[in-house]
Amino acid sequence: MEIVVSGIRPTGNLHLGNYFGAVKNFLRLQDEYKCFFFIANWHSLTTHPHPGDVTNNVRKILAEYLACGIDPAKAAIYVQSDVKEVLELYLFLNMNAYLGELQRVTSFKEKARKQPENVNAGLLTYPTLMAADILIHKAHKVPVGKDQEQNMEMARKFARRFNTIYGVELFPEPESYSFGGDAVKVPGLDGSGKMGKSEGNAIYLIDDAATIRKKVMKAVTDSGPTEPNSVKPEPIENLFKMLQIVSSPDTYDYFNEKYNTCQVRYGDLKKQLAEDIINFTHPIRERILDFAANTDYMDKVAKEGADKARESALHTIREVREVIGFK
Ligand code: AMP
Ligand code: TRP
Repeated sequence: MEIVVSGIRPTGNLHLGNYFGAVKNFLRLQDEYKCFFFIANWHSLTTHPHPGDVTNNVRKILAEYLACGIDPAKAAIYVQSDVKEVLELYLFLNMNAYLGELQRVTSFKEKARKQPENVNAGLLTYPTLMAADILIHKAHKVPVGKDQEQNMEMARKFARRFNTIYGVELFPEPESYSFGGDAVKVPGLDGSGKMGKSEGNAIYLIDDAATIRKKVMKAVTDSGPTEPNSVKPEPIENLFKMLQIVSSPDTYDYFNEKYNTCQVRYGDLKKQLAEDIINFTHPIRERILDFAANTDYMDKVAKEGADKARESALHTIREVREVIGFK
């Protein structure tokens, strides 16, 4: 069976964009492939987070992914730092990773610009650690966003290079798994663009009903169409896009008809949209809170995930040691 690996950055809470753009696809993948999903807490050290945050962010993310429906009975969900075999592969891969190529990675250059006082070696070798995460399970497919394409190219390059240097076919070249036609872009409700944490327009799965109502009621609108069947300007299109994502087709059709006949009342539309978002997020929010309170269960899930991941990792690292000459 084909193997899927994906790393999750432990930063911030999940918002609707993350859910419909990424997590929902993980839910599908876990039914079809042998999946390893892990929380990339080593990678997060490049920015020197507070130790308390290193612990808490992992718990937070784990609770959120479980609440969304990542099923530990189907996928191995684990914490990166629980599988030390990855570090050994990271070291081996670094021996054949060259300064020049690492320095040319766009995200390295960007981060070096953003944190000039902290251009550390971990930042430079971020792509080798990511390649180690992937290659340790001999992954075939890696579901990632477009921003990770260069890191994926590096992972493929390191896999090929290892195979060539040692004359083996040990690592398959991992392909980026793009969700193609199914990829939904969740819009922001502040007029233009997408929903995102850094855009400051995110509706989080953990938001309570009052917060969601407040965020939705603030959505940007205009004075309404004056001609029947007008093209929707972007802020309005975004509201409708959101209805399409969370509401029933009937609700969408109702407001669309109102828009096309110039009778739309944005206040009503937003109220409905807020309630539909709440209906969607509320059960997830409840589960997040349940999981978060049940640290014993979360520790058990993380341990079982790590056991599964370690078994797969050990298998690979033994082969790698042998090939390199550690017999
Ligand atoms: P980020 O929260 O920006 O680190 O994004 C993590 C992943 O969530 C990305 O790789 C995307 O696949 C997905 N994502 C984030 N924001 C959106 C959005 N507004 N619409 C669709 N997908 C998104
Ligand atoms: N670099 C990825 C990101 O920023 C996270 C990540 C780390 C990852 N290791 C990975 C993703 C391995 C896929 C596979 O989102």
